[in-house]
Amino acid sequence: MIRHVKGNVHWVGKTDWELKKFHGSEYSTHRGSTYNSYLVREGKTALIDTVWAPFAKDFVDNLEAEVGLGSIDLVVQNHAEVDHSGSLPELLRRRPGLPVYCTANAVKSLKGHYHEDWNFQVVKTGDSVELGNGKQLVFVEAPMLHWPDSMFTYLAGEAVLFPNDAFGQHYASEFLFNDEVDQDELWAECVKYYANILTPFSPLVAKKIKEVVALNLPVEVIAPSHGIIWRKDPLQIVTQYAEWAADYREDRVAILYDSMWDGTRHLAEAIAKGVSQASPSTDVRVHNVAKTDKNDVITEVFKAKAVLLGSPTINHGILHSMAGLVEQMKGLKFKGKKGGSFGTYGWSGESVKQLGASLRDCGFEVLDEGFAALWEPDAGVLASAFEYGKSLATRL
Ligand code: FEO
Repeated sequence: MIRHVKGNVHWVGKTDWELKKFHGSEYSTHRGSTYNSYLVREGKTALIDTVWAPFAKDFVDNLEAEVGLGSIDLVVQNHAEVDHSGSLPELLRRRPGLPVYCTANAVKSLKGHYHEDWNFQVVKTGDSVELGNGKQLVFVEAPMLHWPDSMFTYLAGEAVLFPNDAFGQHYASEFLFNDEVDQDELWAECVKYYANILTPFSPLVAKKIKEVVALNLPVEVIAPSHGIIWRKDPLQIVTQYAEWAADYREDRVAILYDSMWDGTRHLAEAIAKGVSQASPSTDVRVHNVAKTDKNDVITEVFKAKAVLLGSPTINHGILHSMAGLVEQMKGLKFKGKKGGSFGTYGWSGESVKQLGASLRDCGFEVLDEGFAALWEPDAGVLASAFEYGKSLATRL
């Protein structure tokens, strides 16, 4: 269904209420998502991005029914990942020869995905397309935000920015705009999205924001490719991204563990109480990683100033849930955070040392050699774990 955004800009995307996993199973989408596509109808009509392949036929049928495929003069493909380009094959099968404006890297990516040689019009930063009626599409390359091919498109004359994945959220809603939705839900999805997708690119986020702000362009609407559209105080999400990009941390400690017979859990809880007693204002969160959504865990890591990892020793190593978490943390390149490790063991006891080494690999400042306990912790060991937590709190 075509929905009005601003001026002659309309949303023609797909709301995917059913989506619970994205990027395969790498990203949980508790609240579904949307694939936003926009139609700009001036002297020329431009379609900005498309929707994911499973919805391609409906998407193109809807365009045909509501505006007529023959009325579309050009497509802008801000980013080639299939959730945005997945309808191009169907669209271009029915409108062969339609020009596709995208970056040089997007041509490589689109050819790699679809093995088609469409009518690509390669653009770079500062290039533009006149749409008539005083409106112009201006392109700004945004490499690694979050793929090499990513770009932003700005609609001059209407002050609408189409930044594709940037400033988005995986959040399905029948509302279209930021001022209409539940603010707690909206911001929870924004921070999860940043933490899990954009963290490794934070230096580039900061640089791109400075570059775009320096252009001094009016921005009245920010229309990303996922989730709601920012029309009320649209720059609030840009300001928030600048803060998140600056080695973000709150006065929080995340204690993340897995446990076989509860020994490591008992340590986690004792350490948490110690941290909390020594620093009552610190928000201490304790999660069993094997029982908690992995992307929600990463969001906790993103918010925390310190992360303590716990695992018992198994087969000279750590539990696989913790290994998965460490792999995620390594790729996301968190900066400016402190870390520690703990765990129980019955004989060889390598887990605490290994978790400390992993935290160093992930770029964390590891505070000490960690807290290891032989067998199930008794009252004395738990008291020591409590004291260890208190001691950690003074070093965070
Ligand atoms: Fe929403 Fe990078 O795709």
